[in-house]
This record gives sequence, structure tokens and C-alpha cells, in this order.
Amino acid sequence: MKKILDMISEEMQQAFEKAGYDGKLGKVTLSNRPDLCEYQCNGAMAGAKQYKKAPIMIANDVAAQLADSDVFAEVNAVAPGFLNLKIKEEFLKAYLEGMAADDKFGLDMPESPKKIIIDYGGPNVAKALHVGHLRSAIIGESVKRIARFVGHEVIGDIHLGDWGQPMGLIIHELELRYPDLPYFDESFAGEYPAEAPFTIAELEEIYPTASGKSKEDAEYKTKAMEATFKLQSGVRGHRALWNHIIRVSVSDLKRNYNNLNVEFDLWKGESDAHEWIPDMVQYMKDEGYAYISDGALVVDVKEETDTKEIPPCMILKSDGASLYNTTDLATIKMRMADYAPDQMIYLTDKRQDLYFEQVFRCAKKTKLVNDDTELLHIGFGTMNGKDGKPYKTRSGGVPRLENLIDEINVEMLRKIKENAELKGYGIDEEEAGKTAKIVGLAAIKYGDLSNQPAKDYVFDVERFTSFEGDTGPYVLYTIVRIKSILAKYKEQGSDVTAAKLQTVQNSAEKALAMELAKFNATMQAAYEESAPNKVCAYIYDLANEFNRFYHETKILIEEDEAKKAGWIALLNLTKDVLEACIEVLGFEAPERT
Ligand code: ARG
Repeated sequence: MKKILDMISEEMQQAFEKAGYDGKLGKVTLSNRPDLCEYQCNGAMAGAKQYKKAPIMIANDVAAQLADSDVFAEVNAVAPGFLNLKIKEEFLKAYLEGMAADDKFGLDMPESPKKIIIDYGGPNVAKALHVGHLRSAIIGESVKRIARFVGHEVIGDIHLGDWGQPMGLIIHELELRYPDLPYFDESFAGEYPAEAPFTIAELEEIYPTASGKSKEDAEYKTKAMEATFKLQSGVRGHRALWNHIIRVSVSDLKRNYNNLNVEFDLWKGESDAHEWIPDMVQYMKDEGYAYISDGALVVDVKEETDTKEIPPCMILKSDGASLYNTTDLATIKMRMADYAPDQMIYLTDKRQDLYFEQVFRCAKKTKLVNDDTELLHIGFGTMNGKDGKPYKTRSGGVPRLENLIDEINVEMLRKIKENAELKGYGIDEEEAGKTAKIVGLAAIKYGDLSNQPAKDYVFDVERFTSFEGDTGPYVLYTIVRIKSILAKYKEQGSDVTAAKLQTVQNSAEKALAMELAKFNATMQAAYEESAPNKVCAYIYDLANEFNRFYHETKILIEEDEAKKAGWIALLNLTKDVLEACIEVLGFEAPERT
């Protein structure tokens, strides 16, 4: 379906043409004076010079052409030459009928869907998930779902940090702690144990310990580097131990991401790119892209139009070791070979902006990708505490993801109980706990996604968990409210799915219908601009319009059955649209709050 604003603009453009003016002048926008009109067109003002005519005369000419328009109920030419517009209720009704009959609510699918790989999450094996990973997962999941919803083929890849120095550190520390394990016995030819010799808790403790020791103890560091080298060159025991590290860590990660409603299609990691490195390096040398500078192998990526210094992209360090760059470039090569995507999108902290600029330029220049392969980095801002500094736990440490979620859930549970008490209904402890988790996740995700990704934002437990205002719980509360009205309608013996939309009668109803009609344009824009915040802003407006309508209308006691059914159909569509939106944001609504 066309966007409603485009349909309205087309009608206006035709009127300009029929009146003898340039159709391009007929652009319609949402009214900035909602008290006067719903939409407006300022084309007559713009045309005055071209036609050497007073704008009001042009506006009058155009308005005359629209006297019996199917789209406009009112077209008022007002001084000095504005066209104030109201749309016809029947036109709006037909539009909503089209939406209701379509499982994408009027969003047209792309003619040639793109294949997109989204690289997000990016946790590091054996390290506790922290806030930065939370943002990458939340925003990435939503960007993925939006792209999928608008009709593209999207593959989400977690891109685990599972290779390199941290792995050597862990293995070395394990060797010191448990020297008798068969993994360290080079003469061992039997089968290694199936069980890992450590738990996830120990693993998470080992890494910081080992990392700390290596900074103070040169010998320890050398040994750890040897362990890294052995792992990378395929020493059997080291590989087997590494497999345990990955397995233990990945199962813990899966549990964490599952709790967040985040789902990856691919669990590939830096280690998967490893075998692609030697050929890639050789190719870059052979083609003359890479050269030695101060012992390191680099590719120049600066361009004439640069206004800031873009340093060369380093492919290998002077000791021949590969870097974060190298892995990312090799991963690009691997992805092109395995999936040939049209686009790759990366989600990390915006401090990696320059890094990705270098990597992308290098990939283009060295033709690891095609000329038209799109490479996009979405750099997000920091999650701050109320003091404006990066969020810290009460004890001052870097917060672990799980603690953060707990903090929200505890507050959410308190509010849910308080709410139940206020409204005087009993609530089962277990059910309340489950609801708190569902609503808590919405509170966290909405709190994050309602901001432009690149902006820093304040993690505010009190505000995020509120049932009022621009929050996840408010949106869920609205959905639950609609569900309960629909359920009561059913209890009255009527069929929700049989309810037919009616022509809207009053202004609150019309405002709700007009908000609904913006769905396809909103979703398209959210996709094109990688902006889940647009979906949030939309559902906040939609929820507000619904609640305004709800407070003015006695739906269930309405005696005119057709009228009541019309409202029910409007509510049902509102619920479906809200649910489609929260689905792409990555959370869901409970049965009740
Ligand atoms: N593991 C990295 C980190 O924790 C993030 C990886 C992002 N993705 C990428 N392809 N570089 O910072």
C-alpha cells in the first residue's frame, strides 16, 4: 500500500496541475497547527514568485479543484496562501481496511530483497557480559528484526571474541592451577575428558586474574603468549581445552541472550576467520595493496577528501601477529565467500567509529567486497548513570548484565504489586514474578531503544519502570488494556474478528485512526535510518492516542452494535500494530500487568 501521506500529496499535486500550476508544488505535510487542520500544503506560497500571482489566488484556484475530492473533507485556502486540509473519514476508513487485511499492515515488500549480515552482540568468551554488550545486543536485535520485517533476508552473527591473547592467558593460568591435566601432557594420546575441568564461574574469575598477573609478571606474559601460539598452531591439548572454554562459555551466553530475547543465527567467532588470514595477507601483498612500514604490514586508506587524519590499516604487527583488524577483514572475506551479502552491519560502541572507517575502506580498496557491497557501522553511545558518567554499580564496579537486569526486575516487581494493591486485585507471587520479568525486559529495552543509538543516555531505573510516560511499561500497559477490552467483548458473546471498521465519528477516534495509518511510513523510515527509536516514538504516540480515545469513549456499554463493533475493530488493529512494533523492538506483552 502507498503511504497515506503520498496518497494525499498525489491528490494535491493533481489539483495543482488541473488548476494550471506545477504539480510539484502540491507537497502535503502533517499540520503544524493541529488545532486548525490535520494536514497542510504550502505550495501556493512557493508558487507565487514563479506565477507572479498572490499566493492566496493560487490557493483558491487549487481549493476549487478539490471541491469534490475523495480524499479531502475540507480544503481551506487561508491568508496569505496556506491550504489547510482535513481528510475524509471514508478515505481513512478504506486505508485502515487495507491495513487490517494485510499481515504487514500496508507495508510493501521490497522488489529485490537484500541479503544482510548483522554483526552484533560481540561478547568475549570467558568474560562476563557488561553494559556495552547489552547495548549492542539490544539495538542489533531490533535493527535485525526491523530489516526482516520490511522484507529483507537477514542473518545475525554474534561474532564471538574467542581467539587471541585472552585464550592463551586462560590456558596458561589453567596449566598453573592444574598441571596434571592431560591437556598439558604432550605425550598424551588418549581421548580427553568430555567434561570441562572448570565451571563458568571459575572461568570468569580466571580471565581477570590471568590478565592482572600478565601485566605484572613478564615471564607469565611470555608463557601466556606461548600458550596462544600453541593454540593457534593447533596443538592438540590446547585445542581440546579451548573447546571446553568455548562450550562452557557459549552455553552461559545462550542462557543470557535467551533471557534478553536475543537470538543469533550464527555463532561464529574470531576463531573462524583465523584460517582465512594467511591467504588474505598473501593476496594483499601480491596485489600491491599492503606494504611494510616500520616492520608492520599496512594498507593506506586515507583519501583526498579527508578532513581528519585517517591512519593506515595495520594488517600484521612487526612480529607477524594478527590484530583485531586482521580478524575483521578476514571475517569479511569469509562472509563474502559463504553468504555473498549485499550489506554488512556492525554494532559497537561509537568509540570504534574510526576503526570501522579504516576496516571498511581497506575492504573496499583491496576488493574483499564488491563495489556495491554496503558496509555500515552503527556506533552507539554510552549508558550513563544519573551523575552523567558511565553507569556503575552501587559498589562502584562495572555492572554485569545480570545485576542490571536484577535491579530492574526488583523494582518492576515492587511496582506491579503496588499497582495490584492500588486497584484492589489479588496477585499471585509467582505470576507477579513472571510478569515482572516480561515487563522489566521491556523497561530496559525501551529505555535504550527510545534514544537515537548514537546518543548517550541515562540508565534510570525509576523512570524506565514507570507505568506512565514514554516507557516500555506504559506501552505494555496500553496493550494489556486493549486486550482486556477485547476479552470482555468476547465475554459479551461477540466475535472480535467479525467486527468491521466503521467511519470514524469523533476527533479522538479520528486521531487514533490517523496515527495508525502512519505505520508503513514509520517502519520504512526506521529501517532506512537504522532507527528503532522511530518505532518507539510511534508506539508512544499511538498509545497516547488510544488512551485519549479510550477515556472519552464508553466502548462496551455502547448500544449501537455496529458502532461498538467499529470501535472494537479499531482497537483490534491498534493492538495488532502495537504488538508488531514491540516484536521488532524485541520484547513482548504479558497477559496482564
Ligand atoms: N568483541 C568485541 C568487543 O568486545 C566486539 C566485536 C564487534 N564486532 C566486530 N566485528 N569487530 O569489543
